Amino acid sequence: MKKRIGILTSGGDAPGMNAAIRAIVRTALYKGYEVLGIKHGYKGLINNDIVKLDHHSVANIIQRGGTILGTARCDEFETERGMHRAKKVIDKNKLDCVIVIGGDGTMRGAKEFSEKFGVNLIGLPGTIDNDLYGTDFTIGFDTAINSALEAVDRIRDTASSLERVFFIEVMGRHAGFISLAVGLAGGAEDVIIPETPTDIEEIAQTIQNNIKKGKKSNIIIVAEGDEAGNALTIARKVKKLTGEDYRVAVLGYIQRGGAPTANDRILASKLGYYAVESFENNRFGVMVGEIEGKIVYTPFEETYSIKKPVEDHIYKMIKILSG
Ligand code: F6P
Repeated sequence: MKKRIGILTSGGDAPGMNAAIRAIVRTALYKGYEVLGIKHGYKGLINNDIVKLDHHSVANIIQRGGTILGTARCDEFETERGMHRAKKVIDKNKLDCVIVIGGDGTMRGAKEFSEKFGVNLIGLPGTIDNDLYGTDFTIGFDTAINSALEAVDRIRDTASSLERVFFIEVMGRHAGFISLAVGLAGGAEDVIIPETPTDIEEIAQTIQNNIKKGKKSNIIIVAEGDEAGNALTIARKVKKLTGEDYRVAVLGYIQRGGAPTANDRILASKLGYYAVESFENNRFGVMVGEIEGKIVYTPFEETYSIKKPVEDHIYKMIKILSG
């Protein structure tokens, strides 16, 4: 009997997940394995919501955002009972391994499940937040920052025309990777991230100095998870000190959708290919990532318990460059 691999996508969708699914399916079929797609993440695993995937199932999806398998955030999988049901479904479908694509919640679930029930799991980093240790970039991050950047560039036109201060909130949950990248690429006057303490007086001072210097626009990128609050809260506090009129834009879910960039498709294709190779080599309980161009395998627990550092020098650089 042919060996069988299951694939699921879990948590928030991320552009490039489909490219990863395609790479896994095509690599697995090439190597003589069968592939089953599990719908809606761990929820589908619990409920035996499973379809067979062949060459055609993954045709014409490399360029599509979202995930053809659907995804979900599943509370039941966090319980012993839920995992027990999922294990039964794995046995019933004779799955030799499940490749799980998602963020920190997905890796956390994978760690618990594989340890408690002895199942063979391999992870792929799929989240726009880029907050997983064990890979330079997660699948979806590049697309998200490019989408956010397009919005920032458009807002810059209005900010300059009206000489207004803008606070633009980006996603990232508890991490500031999106904010930093968009801040640097968008020429922001300041960025606010959860990894560094936020000093409202300093932000107010930066804005006032910029106005004195004759700068026409001030754009502050705010990571949604900052300890000082969301963009609106921070904007209100800053206004109390500067008196300057402001506008707030929350970019929200437009950052999560859309066609994956070339970088995301390339990363997803490589990681999908190497996930199957990892299966072939009986390497389980790890997330496949890429660091400095090399494929690396990181135990599930490390991917979310070790904090991936943000690049401090970029934080400082943004302020100097916008000077
Ligand atoms: O993890 C991806 C992400 O888009 C975060 O940036 C954001 O905080 C969260 O998901 C939103 O979650 P939900 O899709 O459950 O609203």
